[in-house]
Amino acid sequence: MEMDSPSQSRPPHVVIFPLPLQGHINSMIKLAELLALAGFKLTFLNSHHNHERLIKFTNIVAYFKRYPGFELKTITDGLPLDHPRSGNWFLETYEEAIIMKIKQRFREMLMNSNPPVDCVIADGFSGFAIDVANELGIPIIGFRTSSPRSFWVYYSITDIIKAGELPIRGSEDMDRLITTVPGMETYLRCRDLPSFCRKSDIEDSTVQLIVKQTRKSTEADALIFNTTDELDGPILSQIRTKCANIYPIGPLHAQLNTKLKAKHGESFDQFSNALREEDKSCIPWLDKQPYRSVIYVSFGSITSTSRDQLVELWYGLLNSKTKFLFVVRPDSVIGKDGEGEDVVKELMEKSKDRGYIVDWAPQEVVLNHQAVGGFLTHSGWNSTLESIVAGVPMVCWPYFADQQVTSRVVSRVWKIGLDMKDVCDRKIVENMVNDVMVDRKEFVNSATDMAKVINQCVSIGGSSSNNLDRLIEDIRMKRLKTTKRL
Ligand code: UDX
Repeated sequence: MEMDSPSQSRPPHVVIFPLPLQGHINSMIKLAELLALAGFKLTFLNSHHNHERLIKFTNIVAYFKRYPGFELKTITDGLPLDHPRSGNWFLETYEEAIIMKIKQRFREMLMNSNPPVDCVIADGFSGFAIDVANELGIPIIGFRTSSPRSFWVYYSITDIIKAGELPIRGSEDMDRLITTVPGMETYLRCRDLPSFCRKSDIEDSTVQLIVKQTRKSTEADALIFNTTDELDGPILSQIRTKCANIYPIGPLHAQLNTKLKAKHGESFDQFSNALREEDKSCIPWLDKQPYRSVIYVSFGSITSTSRDQLVELWYGLLNSKTKFLFVVRPDSVIGKDGEGEDVVKELMEKSKDRGYIVDWAPQEVVLNHQAVGGFLTHSGWNSTLESIVAGVPMVCWPYFADQQVTSRVVSRVWKIGLDMKDVCDRKIVENMVNDVMVDRKEFVNSATDMAKVINQCVSIGGSSSNNLDRLIEDIRMKRLKTTKRL
């Protein structure tokens, strides 16, 4: 009997729905492009606010015209367009917005879609999308944009609490090993748990929301992770015990670059997914610097530091023996409007000979520049993968959530960097930067070796490339509901 496949009459129609945050949009729009390259019809569903920003700062509309049927649609994120969306706005407002508006609009969009939707790929943090897709009988895949290890820790929090290993009992307790996260017993300490586990009240609503959303993810027909078997194999095996069908198809930016290069040659055109204006003037500056002489410093799209932390980080860089390219976003310093401006001005003046400061950098290009030899990072998952692919060793200064887990894995498991968590002292910054940039300690070679292995995964026949092919075939042949039961 012939299978009823969309490929017989029309390409499969996939809706991709990220959370309204930079780090989530980045990897999900790359997946959208990969599926469009495979000939699928794509609908990329962004918040009105982020869509406006992408239109302002990128060529998004013109770029995606090259894929027939690629549609950019928008939905509310629950806030008025002119709301500043600063600080923790997302966790504070999103759940209510889902109940009040987003869920209903999403359902209407799916129901009224022409052609009908064959598969939804929703951010793994959007449990409501699973309910809507199930109600309408549409296969749904959850995409967890942060690392599988942080996912697995979130998933295990209920067990950690049951075992009496949480709450943490004061600062002297921070180096205690957590024994109830299967596969991570030998290296996960209290201080490496997601930042919100430090609350004395673990019944706190943020903790509960994150645990609930994580457990709910496994009710999807399958899960996508932006990683490879080679990076996270043992933990992916653990996750398979909760959701049988998972697709490790990352690093997605490398997978997409490989496919675009194969199609268009070395000088392929690439979409920049920035919600801010990129300052490309740092590239001519890097061009003038010697091989691997510059440390790149960036803390992603959300991290804010106190004024004092910024000063310590900056003096650590100034006192080190290296040059630096530092991303200081206008909203990098916590505090009232304008607070921190004086110190930024003063330090910029002092950095003239040694540093270059931008509001927002073309990060992927920067990390692959021959002048860049290290990355002082907040350990966001996209940044970590971009650094791994470029073979750049890291100094990790995690800010919140998944980043505490990732920085531990970078230093202790993969041994491709140093973990500076919980410390912000200029002397330590200076020493760690020198370890990477001047003494070129052993983890620098490990970073180069790891880059080779991970770049292989996205080449033809590599694990992530094979998993992407499997994902494409499973959607095309409508196998998702079946594989879930295997
Ligand atoms: C956050 C989390 O930290 C991350 O782990 C989670 O998966 C998504 O949400 P964010 O803090 O923004 O994201 O960090 P990260 O995941 O590293 O993403 C930042 C992205 O912005 C990266 O792709 C990076 O290349 C890009 N970026 C950052 C720039 O292009 N220019 C910059 O100047 C800074």
